[in-house]
Amino acid sequence: MSAGVHTVAVIGAGKIGELMLSGLLRSGWPVDRLLATARRPARAEELTARYGVRVVDNLTAVDEAAVLAVSVKPQDAAALLDEIGPKVPADKLVISLCAGLPTSFFSRRLPEGTPVVRVMTNTPALVDEAMTAISAGAHATGAHLTLAEEMFKPLGQTIRVPESQQDAVTALSGSGPAYFYLLVEAMIDAGILLGLPRQVAHELIVQTAIGSAVMLRDSGEHPVKLREAVTSPAGTTISAIRELEKHGVRAALLAALEAARDRARELAAQAD
Ligand SMILES: NC(=O)c1ccc[n+]([C@@H]2O[C@H](COP(=O)([O-])OP(=O)(O)OC[C@H]3O[C@@H](n4cnc5c(N)ncnc54)[C@H](OP(=O)(O)O)[C@@H]3O)[C@@H](O)[C@H]2O)c1
Repeated sequence: MSAGVHTVAVIGAGKIGELMLSGLLRSGWPVDRLLATARRPARAEELTARYGVRVVDNLTAVDEAAVLAVSVKPQDAAALLDEIGPKVPADKLVISLCAGLPTSFFSRRLPEGTPVVRVMTNTPALVDEAMTAISAGAHATGAHLTLAEEMFKPLGQTIRVPESQQDAVTALSGSGPAYFYLLVEAMIDAGILLGLPRQVAHELIVQTAIGSAVMLRDSGEHPVKLREAVTSPAGTTISAIRELEKHGVRAALLAALEAARDRARELAAQAD
């Protein structure tokens, strides 16, 4: 199996499924090698109008595609697999984008021997800056992982992790963009508190976030070092940091990510 030469069906093309479709198209994947499925006719029409992609029912997708990328909500996965599971020939590759669900959830509902790969991507896929973590489930070979990587590489960075780390990945990078947006939103509010016009505060913080992110990526320096470079003795930054520490921002992040990890586990338990 190699990229672009077989058909990929995005099963349940909602927000994440659409990110995948649009990313594959941007990377040059032929539109006639893509299929999508949707629950609502209006959604199907929207996808065809936007991408020219053929939207079919789930069983047709199973029939025609070599790779089935499942991107329904975790709580909808069992019903979907009740419908398609027994009909999936064991030579198809199933890629799950569902948060929390272990590959064993799929394997139990698919014919013996069906390869399953678990993927956690994130919304910056929209601007080709996703972080996608890929894990092999039962029967997935190196070739299957390579194919999944080839599909997600055009959307940003990819990393292979053992499946046991996927709930932590979900908490960190899957939900991660939301934490940064919250931080930016709060900093814009702080700018308004200090008397800046909203638009000025927005521009200042968004560019500061971008600049800091590029420094983190390109300098190779540890974040502590980068922070220390902005923190002069008895200066303004250390006064702010004292407040952040006093208000437990670091502890809040540790607790928040633990809660996200636990929620991923709960979703898997509820889906079963
Ligand atoms: N959003 C994120 O940032 C993010 C990040 C990483 C991973 N994920 C994972 O990605 C998955 C999808 O999340 P999402 O935010 O994209 O959800 P979403 O927008 O609700 O997309 C799921 C889509 O699947 C459709 N669907 C459900 N059951 C179906 C079925 N039996 N047949 C065909 N279509 C069906 C839904 O139809 P309706 O429109 O009728 O509901 C919906 O359009 C989740 O498992 C989530 O854990 C999400």
